[in-house]
Amino acid sequence: MKLNSQLLKELVGIYGPSGNEDKIRGYIEEQIKDYVDEITVDSLGNLIARKKGNGKRIMISAHMDQIGLMVTAIDDNGFLRFTNIGGISPFVTLSQQVIFENGVRGVISSEPTSDISKLKLSNMFIDIGVNNKEEAEKLINIGDVCIYNSEYGESNNVVFTRYLDDRVGCYVAIEAMKQIKEPKNDLYFVFSVQEEVGLRGAKTSAYTVNPEIGIALDVTGSGDTPNAKTFAVALHKGAAIKVKDSSILTHPKLRQHMVEIAKANKISYQMEVLEYGGTDAGAIHLTKEGVPTGAISIPTRYIHSTIEMASKNDIMDSVNLLVKLLESEIIL
Ligand code: CO
Ligand code: ZN
Repeated sequence: MKLNSQLLKELVGIYGPSGNEDKIRGYIEEQIKDYVDEITVDSLGNLIARKKGNGKRIMISAHMDQIGLMVTAIDDNGFLRFTNIGGISPFVTLSQQVIFENGVRGVISSEPTSDISKLKLSNMFIDIGVNNKEEAEKLINIGDVCIYNSEYGESNNVVFTRYLDDRVGCYVAIEAMKQIKEPKNDLYFVFSVQEEVGLRGAKTSAYTVNPEIGIALDVTGSGDTPNAKTFAVALHKGAAIKVKDSSILTHPKLRQHMVEIAKANKISYQMEVLEYGGTDAGAIHLTKEGVPTGAISIPTRYIHSTIEMASKNDIMDSVNLLVKLLESEIIL
């Protein structure tokens, strides 16, 4: 199997910050419609695609929303002040190019400062190159959200791009869906909304799907860069099987089952103990009386930056692990 670069490149390139997922939902629907039996969209905007089978009802969730910057005010000279939608670092954001849903582009700069450590989003602004407020208001409204606008790149072993979080999770779900021809379990692939602002789409879609088992697909960090915080996940070491993050302690039997599946199929894997962060798994496992839930994570460097980097092999290992897991009989 080779990485489907075309699909991944298109996925990371489509507009869809939290709460504004229409475009990306339309794109994903188009990609998957020939591979599933039913597609529904719930009131929050989650895309729920079912592939019917007779076994357990499994919800597989990858969030399709992305982090972005929301305009809070426009000053007399046409500069835009903004707040964060999801985790935006002032240092990562400085000097980046952004793009709005209507195609208007801007650059991010800051008020003069002699102490860069004091950099905060509140003293930064977006410059869309206009002369005054009136001109700006013809292009942009308060509440509009822009996203990072950086180029997709690949080398032999890695991809580096904006928004692997979590379009690479969507990629893994879509590729798995294509490979599973006759599902043994009853599969509900959810492309969730508003994960970056607190796992909100996973919460409502899990209520709808009412799964017996949950699987989240998302990026995780890596502990392999210079002086990184101790974290036993590295690029090129395989799909990461989550043990915990701040939102969940994964179901031990499901986790063990995933390890056994990886071993039996000679799929490279590593265990992930993340001391921060959360994923859709956090919301799914607290549905109703509780749902045994786990997660496959794609090890990623520089998460929430414009150059998130992941290993092609790790991505393909994640697809393989998901396929084999979904095709297995899961007894907990
Ligand atoms: Co994120
Ligand atoms: Zn994510």
